[in-house]
Amino acid sequence: MAKILTGIQSTGTPHLGNILGAIIPAIEMANSSNEESYLFIANMHSLTQIKDQKTLNQNTFSTAAAWLSFGLDPNKSCFFRQSDVPEVTELAWYLSCFFPYQRLKLAHSFKDKSNDLKDVNSGLFSYPMLMSADILLYDANIVPVGKDQLQHLEMTRDVAARFNNLMGDTFVIPEAKIQEETKYIIGIDGEKMSKSKSNIIDIFLDDEKLRKQIMKIQTQSLSVEEPKNPDHCNVFKLFKVISSEEEIGKLHSLYTKGGIGYGKAKEMLYESVLNRFSSNRESFFELTNNQDKVEQMLLDGAKKARKQAQKVLKRVRSRVGF
Ligand code: TRP
Repeated sequence: MAKILTGIQSTGTPHLGNILGAIIPAIEMANSSNEESYLFIANMHSLTQIKDQKTLNQNTFSTAAAWLSFGLDPNKSCFFRQSDVPEVTELAWYLSCFFPYQRLKLAHSFKDKSNDLKDVNSGLFSYPMLMSADILLYDANIVPVGKDQLQHLEMTRDVAARFNNLMGDTFVIPEAKIQEETKYIIGIDGEKMSKSKSNIIDIFLDDEKLRKQIMKIQTQSLSVEEPKNPDHCNVFKLFKVISSEEEIGKLHSLYTKGGIGYGKAKEMLYESVLNRFSSNRESFFELTNNQDKVEQMLLDGAKKARKQAQKVLKRVRSRVGF
């Protein structure tokens, strides 16, 4: 029996790449586990980057609504907002007293930005300690994360082991479960879809805006009649990850025979996005109109999370002698 936990970055509304690469697999994993899982929105981590109240809260909200619309079951998973469990900051402090400064300095999340130290706040420096606290506070066994988080997981295991060695057995040592990017999702420019590259498809936009986003996908300039290589086309590549075998086959032959323009292909992609995600979009819009409902779910989740957090924190306090 393994307790699964993961933190969700909330830097904006999750886009198609996040959804196919992280949200769907994590929810499947949580829903098929026998044990309760912990999924939380890491809004305290977001504060290292975002200083605007409204943006922070909107991001938290749209991230929560997106996860819920893809079937996250708050009865099965403990779903909460990091900032609603203040115990995590106390644990982060204890952990940071057991972790060498010299090692923390090597964290990519900090090192990558350390060329321009004037822009680095000390929250960004301690980021891995807060993340370790997120994990150790719930006795988590398995932490599904992307490859870029592996170093943070190593630090978590390390600080837990150091504490256990010095103070006696206290923490469960967690394991990372690397979410291989089974699907490499390209953005509208053909590069990997990523918010920082401004090439995303946001499936939660209203119809007209979504259509416009899809119409901006970069293509070659070939006439309608010319046969086209589907494997070299961004529109087809995206169509392939969200459509049924039958639809894919149809569009594939239209490409190779010629007679379909990119405009028409984009229309087909747009229709396919609407089709595939109609129930998710509906539920996202419904939650957007019922923000209180989401708020209540998050508060209920935090209540459950805090119970567990307080148990572990008590153990830690007694180890350090407080
Ligand atoms: N740092 C993670 C990311 O950028 C988010 C995160 C915060 C997290 N706390 C966590 C992930 C705890 C797993 C476990 O994606």
